[in-house]
Formats: sequence, C-alpha cells, structure tokens
Amino acid sequence: MHRSVLSVFFRVYKTSKGRIISARTCHTDIHVRRFILENTEVVGDLSLTPEIRLRLFTPKCRFWTERPELWPFSDPFWAIYWPGGQAISRYLMDNPEICRGKSVLDVGSGCGASAIVAKKCGAKHVTANDIDSIAGLVTVINSELNNLEPPVCSTENMINSEPVPFDLILLGDMFYDESLASTLHTWLDRCIKSHGATVLIGDPGRAAFEGQNFHQHLRLLAQYKLPQSVREENYGLVYSSVWSYRPTL
Ligand SMILES: C[S@@+](CC[C@H](N)C(=O)[O-])C[C@H]1O[C@@H](n2cnc3c(N)ncnc32)[C@H](O)[C@@H]1O
Repeated sequence: MHRSVLSVFFRVYKTSKGRIISARTCHTDIHVRRFILENTEVVGDLSLTPEIRLRLFTPKCRFWTERPELWPFSDPFWAIYWPGGQAISRYLMDNPEICRGKSVLDVGSGCGASAIVAKKCGAKHVTANDIDSIAGLVTVINSELNNLEPPVCSTENMINSEPVPFDLILLGDMFYDESLASTLHTWLDRCIKSHGATVLIGDPGRAAFEGQNFHQHLRLLAQYKLPQSVREENYGLVYSSVWSYRPTL
C-alpha cells in the first residue's frame, strides 16, 4: 500500500481527515503483536538516529502495495518514523543532558522513537502518549528491540486537558493540522506556565506549523538534513528542525 501510506500523509497533512477502519480480525494483544511483527520490518540505519532500531513499513512489507481496505486498523502513523520525530530524537541523542534525570512526555509518540531515545539518554521517567492504542503496543515492541524497558504508554487525549507536570514535553511532527496546532499552542502555554516544562518541537516545515503565526514563541535549536530515503518518502522535504517553545508573556 505504498500509495496508501503516502495517501495517509495527504489525508492528514492536506485535509486532516483521518479514516478509521475498525479492527475486523485482531482481537487480542497477542494477535495484534503477531500482525505487527508480520507486517513491519526492522529498520536500523535509514533515519537520523541509526543508534536505534524500529519496526516500520518498508517496501518489503505486504501493505506497502496491498489494497488499503484490507488493512484492519486505523491509519498506521506508528509505522512511519516522521521527520519531526527524527529531528527531536537526533537532538536528544546529541544533547543527552536535556533528558538526563528528567520526567519526559512524548505527545503523539507514534512508533515511540523519541520516547525510546529519551530513555536511552537517561530520563528518569518517560511517558509515550498517543491516542492510537496500537502505537502503544508498537512502542513496547520497539523498546524491546532496543533492549530497553518500555516507557509508560498512555492513550489519553491530554491536549487541552489539565496541564501536565513533566519536565520535558516532546512533540515530533504534531503540527499537521490547523486546529490541532492552535489547540497545542494554548495547551503548551499552560503546561509551561503551570509546571515550568521545557517544550521541544520537531517539524520539517509543515504548512500548519509555519502558518500558526507563533514564531515569536519559537527558538531554533537545530536543523538536520534528512537522509535520502526519508526525503523520498516525504515528498521532497529536505530539512527537519528542532525548536524550543516559549510561552506568551
Ligand atoms: C505524524 S505522527 C508523529 C509520530 C511521532 N511523533 C514521529 O515523529 O514519528 C502523529 C501522531 O500523533 C498521534 N496523535 C494525534 N492526535 C493526538 C492527540 N490528541 N494526542 C496524542 N496523540 C495524538 C497520532 O496517532 C500519530 O501517531
């Protein structure tokens, strides 16, 4: 379903309408785990963080070309290591003191890569938060793959709820939709003001991020050139950046 993987991108990034296909065949974690193992491939050195291995979609996987209607779950964002998440993970890997001894929340954690890197860098506590429960299971599988205890995985929709008391909040490629971006803006502001959280955003220049008009709140920390294969899978995006977010005064 290569075209479908790409159309996921289009649906989310161009229209923001996520298509939900209900699970028809897999009812338990064991079955879902087996399904994930059979339909993903371990990828090591094709991202900005070759230090970690992840189970992802690749052209060798059945659903790269399979008819999308046969896919039994909601859209598999967790099967892609997005450019924004890659940039945050690279930045943490190069600056491990940012997470060492800290409590870290990865919002929209997908495959769990940034949460895994935070663990690797010595975070005291890591929560991987994604509203898709399959993402949580994949995060556990990917943690095992890297010989790490999995982070706490939560499926709660935290955005726009009470500010959460974490030292560090990570958002990799979460600014894909205008309304989500604006909600995040308000919520992040409250998290920083209530708990003094440090907020890092990884983004490759998505329209909803650029269009938010909150650049006065951002400080560029790093910019990375994406590996060739990531550029090809992401419609020619070339760079991905890490920003720190400052609250409104
Ligand atoms: C583009 S993916 C990014 C995944 C990961 N951060 C990365 O960079 O590889 C966005 C993820 O956000 C999740 N998501 C969307 N809305 C969310 C919300 N309100 N709370 C938590 N996760 C959410 C989706 O399920 C998806 O896994």
